[in-house]
Amino acid sequence: MSEDEQQNQGDNFSKTQLFVTIRLTKPDEINTLLQLQTKSLRILTAKDYDRRQIEAIIERNYRLNQFRMGAITFVAEYEGKIIGFAILNRIFRIIDAVFVHPDFVRRSVGKQLMFAIEQEAIQRKIKSLLVLSSLTAINFYQALGYQILGETTISHNKIKIPCVYMKKQFLPFTLIDRLYGWIIIVLSCAAIARFLYLVLSLSH
Ligand SMILES: CC(C)(COP(=O)(O)OP(=O)(O)OC[C@H]1O[C@@H](n2cnc3c(N)ncnc32)[C@H](O)[C@@H]1OP(=O)(O)O)[C@@H](O)C(=O)NCCC(=O)NCCS
Repeated sequence: MSEDEQQNQGDNFSKTQLFVTIRLTKPDEINTLLQLQTKSLRILTAKDYDRRQIEAIIERNYRLNQFRMGAITFVAEYEGKIIGFAILNRIFRIIDAVFVHPDFVRRSVGKQLMFAIEQEAIQRKIKSLLVLSSLTAINFYQALGYQILGETTISHNKIKIPCVYMKKQFLPFTLIDRLYGWIIIVLSCAAIARFLYLVLSLSH
């Protein structure tokens, strides 16, 4: 299949659902996942980003090391091969990645990975998840109930990459959650004000 044909694959209507095995990744699979991510980005995001932007995203993701502390990585396995993966960062409560091999898109692999991520989040009492979505994945996240919070631009090696912040709430926030949120905001403001006061008083 040519690259152009592969690029159009994501726009095709759904084919039959592919039932995959979703499991946690093993430490020796990171290189496989990085290769899959690179292929998925180069082929599937080519309709939304130019070549320089795609290479910048790939390099940025390598540098960020999404498999860092707090990452819970699920892989989708089909006939013994990894054809997709997704990362939940339980510390920052964000979805750090969802990538599917271009040969297997629109067959519910992404959806099955996201189901595992969301179940994991719910078990950990995480009430909402945030994702910095590529332009390519907006429809995918929307289909799964994520809402657009706003557009943003990330920059890597001076190359600008437009993205979108999206969020999904699974469980309602209680009064205690809100109170806790406000306490954190007030304490952070107080800490910043104190820091500024100290800096200003030292400079006089
Ligand atoms: C986004 C991505 C993970 C989706 O994976 P997928 O396995 O193809 O998605 P699914 O088949 O589970 O799609 C679930 C639903 O999302 C929506 N959807 C997915 N891809 C879509 C597309 N290209 N256009 C419109 N809707 C889409 C559809 O409603 C789909 O349901 P349907 O096929 O029954 O209509 C995959 O296309 C990918 O890896 N993209 C490139 C990398 C990327 O941008 N990742 C996100 C990083 S933030």
